[in-house]
Amino acid sequence: MICFISAALTTDGFIGKDSAHAAFWTSKEDKKRFIEITKRAGVVVMGLNTYRTLGKPLKDRLNIVYSPEKLTGADAVAGVETTTKAPSDLLADLAGRGFTEVAICGGSQIYTMFMESGVVNKLYITVEPIVFGSGIKLFNKSLDFRLTLEKSVTTESGSLLLEYKVNK
Ligand SMILES: NC(=O)c1ccc[n+]([C@@H]2O[C@H](COP(=O)([O-])OP(=O)(O)OC[C@H]3O[C@@H](n4cnc5c(N)ncnc54)[C@H](OP(=O)(O)O)[C@@H]3O)[C@@H](O)[C@H]2O)c1
Repeated sequence: MICFISAALTTDGFIGKDSAHAAFWTSKEDKKRFIEITKRAGVVVMGLNTYRTLGKPLKDRLNIVYSPEKLTGADAVAGVETTTKAPSDLLADLAGRGFTEVAICGGSQIYTMFMESGVVNKLYITVEPIVFGSGIKLFNKSLDFRLTLEKSVTTESGSLLLEYKVNK
């Protein structure tokens, strides 16, 4: 199972200004790659805060939302699943359903939980030419992983599209 993180960072290392700040500030190249890699995976995993920033589920992909409770009201959309499973249990469940790739789509709580559990083998990171000064970081606790940079593309507008492998 390939489990990858997809995230856009400001140049000063933030993924958002606060938990409710939607990640619509990213470049068109980042959005294009995000759509491409998440559709290839077919399943996107995110936390409830991130899900709420989207306004609606990501279409043509199974949306799985980490939430302490079942979705209600405007959050409850047909086809969107909730989970509280440990990352390895969720991946085993998805493998059993025929998925071979899973996209971990944030936010910080979910990126951290998956990275810490050791199941992430790839990171698609975009560094955007923008600063927030303060905000939410990619990971919210101490981690120690070595990465190998596999691909790096600089776009005309100055975004860096990076692909890393997590060294095992
Ligand atoms: N730049 C990017 O690429 C990018 C991508 C995605 C998101 N973001 C940004 O990230 C920010 C949101 O991140 P965030 O860290 O605040 O929130 P988040 O990770 O999106 O979601 C946190 C929510 O998930 C729930 N949750 C976490 N672990 C759980 C578990 N094991 N079981 C059940 N529920 C669980 C939490 O429940 P509890 O309330 O019980 O703790 C909380 O409600 C926003 O600014 C968003 O725009 C940026």
